[in-house]
Amino acid sequence: MDTQKSIFLTLLLCIDTSVSRAVFLQTGDSVFLNVTETDVPADFAILSWKFNAKVALVSFSPVREPRVHPNYSSRMDYDGKKYFVKLRNLQKADSGVYTAELAAFNVKTVAEYNVTVQDPVSPVKMAVTPNSSVSLSCNLTVTCSTEDAHISSTFTCDTKTCQQEGGERSQITKSAAFLHVQLSGQSIICNHSNQVSWTKDVIKIQDHCFHHDGSAVSFCLVKTAVFSVCLVIMVCAVIGVHIMERLKKQE
Ligand SMILES: *[C@@H]1O[C@H](CO)[C@@H](O)[C@H](O)[C@H]1NC(C)=O
Ligand SMILES: *[C@@H]1O[C@H](CO)[C@@H](O)[C@H](O)[C@H]1NC(C)=O
Ligand SMILES: *[C@@H]1O[C@H](CO)[C@@H](O)[C@H](O)[C@H]1NC(C)=O
Ligand SMILES: *[C@@H]1O[C@H](CO)[C@@H](O)[C@H](O)[C@H]1NC(C)=O
Ligand SMILES: *[C@@H]1O[C@H](CO)[C@@H](O)[C@H](O)[C@H]1NC(C)=O
Ligand SMILES: *[C@@H]1O[C@H](CO)[C@@H](O)[C@H](O)[C@H]1NC(C)=O
Repeated sequence: MDTQKSIFLTLLLCIDTSVSRAVFLQTGDSVFLNVTETDVPADFAILSWKFNAKVALVSFSPVREPRVHPNYSSRMDYDGKKYFVKLRNLQKADSGVYTAELAAFNVKTVAEYNVTVQDPVSPVKMAVTPNSSVSLSCNLTVTCSTEDAHISSTFTCDTKTCQQEGGERSQITKSAAFLHVQLSGQSIICNHSNQVSWTKDVIKIQDHCFHHDGSAVSFCLVKTAVFSVCLVIMVCAVIGVHIMERLKKQE
């Protein structure tokens, strides 16, 4: 029984229980790095939070006060009992892997976070080139632009539906953001996004196609007007003829 227990314990100590957790945050945010308390035995030697396996932000020991790296002291909260670290006002340079390394019988990693700090994405602008629009179909090419990327896509529409040539388009920009253009109902959407933010620009297809709808309305008006005038003339003619006949009879 005891042997089994100790084998189990040995296994536990040897297996690295931590899995790197991906965390995406915006510049200026805070990150809360945790260890599971059950991973920390009462009689450990040192527990250190390390950045990229080199810099120890803080190290805890059961027998002394926590030691804090001077570069982090002004923007870090920590807890010597729960062993968490809260790092404030993150900058892009803080992106990297944070590990909690526990030195007991051996050294093992009890928590690992892969932190990526991103700026919010810049605005996206859509420009429309109407290739052609005849009464029943319309071709448009849109170009979505951000400060460091462009993406174009062509749409073919009839009065009811549109199709995006080659399907949805997307691109990874130089700043590792995602630029995407797609059809959404009767609109075209450009979406510029990363893991922490997104911006969009939207156009309505009807604002760029089927302008003949407007002229069709006025054509209809003209038709009505002409028809009305004809009607009036005809009625006048009929009345006129009628009156003339009456006058003739009276003579
Ligand atoms: C750490 O734990 C706190 C409270 O349980 C939680 O709010 C926070 O999201 C955790 N941090 C991470 C990076 O998962
Ligand atoms: C600490 O800050 C100093 C001064 O800003 C810098 O030169 C040094 O590289 C930093 N050290 C670490 C480990 O971040
Ligand atoms: C951390 O996350 C970034 C962004 O997703 C990825 O490129 C990088 O390979 C990851 N690093 C590790 C050590 O998991
Ligand atoms: C529409 O115009 C754009 C730019 O003028 C051009 O790149 C694209 O090939 C044209 N598409 C069609 C279907 O004519
Ligand atoms: C739009 O483009 C498609 C294919 O690119 C073409 O078959 C169609 O005639 C075009 N329509 C107009 C109105 O130019
Ligand atoms: C833009 O993309 C982001 C990330 O994929 C998504 O969360 C958001 O809903 C999208 N916005 C629109 C308007 O489609």
